[in-house]
Order: sequence, then structure tokens, then C-alpha cells
Amino acid sequence: MYKLVAFDAYGTLFDVYSMGQLAEEFFPGQGGVLSVMWRDRQIEYTRLVTMSDPSPQGSKYYLPFWEITIRALRYVCKRLKLELTEQKEAQLMAEYARLKAFGDASSVLEQLHQKGIATAILSNGSREMLRTVVQSNGLESYLDQVVTVEEVKLFKTAPQSYQLLIDAFSFKKEEILFVSSNAWDALGASWFGYDVFWVNRSNLPFEEIGPLPTYQGSSLSALLELLNGNNS
Ligand code: LAC
Repeated sequence: MYKLVAFDAYGTLFDVYSMGQLAEEFFPGQGGVLSVMWRDRQIEYTRLVTMSDPSPQGSKYYLPFWEITIRALRYVCKRLKLELTEQKEAQLMAEYARLKAFGDASSVLEQLHQKGIATAILSNGSREMLRTVVQSNGLESYLDQVVTVEEVKLFKTAPQSYQLLIDAFSFKKEEILFVSSNAWDALGASWFGYDVFWVNRSNLPFEEIGPLPTYQGSSLSALLELLNGNNS
């Protein structure tokens, strides 16, 4: 019986697919590779700043995720020899700020609320960018808290980042279910000690290290089916 279901944001509640489409419009033939490399470099930068100073006071190299996302975009465009004008950068980041939620996200959050289960986001995202994307999708009334690693200045998968949920709610570790579509994030949360639901929309293989997630399914709705079976 879970008291809190906490969601990763980017890729899990919010669909980053449109970034590839817009990138393809700007750089025909390169949109797919750009968006994959962009995401990889973004996550790589989060790990670099976290691992290079994993002190409990936060990394001295910390940059907000919004800034990391811009820097990763600039790097990848240089690497691919694509001309990223100020206007293109601004448009890509404006799209990132208002990514659409997956079709089932709001109804799943609403039904969790109706079942009396608390809901949260736990994201690498900076506070402002999370507020914008949550509000532009009208999800604020279905979320009890939006928790950002900005508070500890250490990105996932630092244990301090996952600990934020326990500090924000007065629930025990085993009363929390963490949901992510990112296999590395699912693994980090499992290692931290949470039960995890991995949203595997594209039928991808899981990581080749660490334990498999507690549960997996192909959509957020599958999570609800699981909880209706287990929690009713
Ligand atoms: C997040 C990214 C990592 O929302 O998906 O934390």
C-alpha cells in the first residue's frame, strides 16, 4: 500500500518527442540524432557536476538544469556542426519549457488523488522550469508537491536527491513508489531503496547492471491498473 507516488518529470510525465520534431525542422535530417545527443549530454553534465563534488552541501559546480540543458544543446550543435542561431536556441528552449504531458498523465494523477494517494514530481529540473511545464499542462491541482534537486544541488542519482521525497513528506521509504521512464533513474531509485515502476513505452531493454525495477509497464495508465489491483 503506497502513500505517495512520485514521478520523474522529463520523459515520464512530459513528452520530449516534440524536441526532435522541432530540431528536424531547423536541421533537416539531423533532428533525431540531435535530440538523442542533446538528452545524453544534458544527463552527462548533471553527472559530471555531481560526481566532481558530491558534498552534502551541494556541488560547487552545480548549474540549474535549465542552464545545463542550454549548454548541452550548444555543445551538441557544435559537435554536429549545426548553426544554432540565438533565435533557434530560444525557440528550442521555449518548446522545452512547455513540453506536453503524455495523454494519460492528468487522468492518472487525478485518479491517484481520488484514491487518497499523495502525488509528487521529483526532478532534476529547476524550480522555475518545473513550475512552467506543470502549469502549462494544468497539472498543479493534481500534484501535492513538486520537488526539485535544486534544494540539494546534487542531481539524480545522488542519494541526497532521492532522499528529498522522504524529507518533503513524512512517509517511510517503503510507503513511496517512484515512477520513471528513464531506466538509469529507475535504477538509481531502486538502489536508494524505493519500489519503482519503470514506464517502458518503447519496449527498451533495462540496464545491464543492478536489479530490475519492482514493476514495469508500457504507460502511466498501466501504473494505475497495478495500483488498482494492489491498493484497492
Ligand atoms: C528529470 C529528468 C532527469 O525530470 O528526466 O529528473
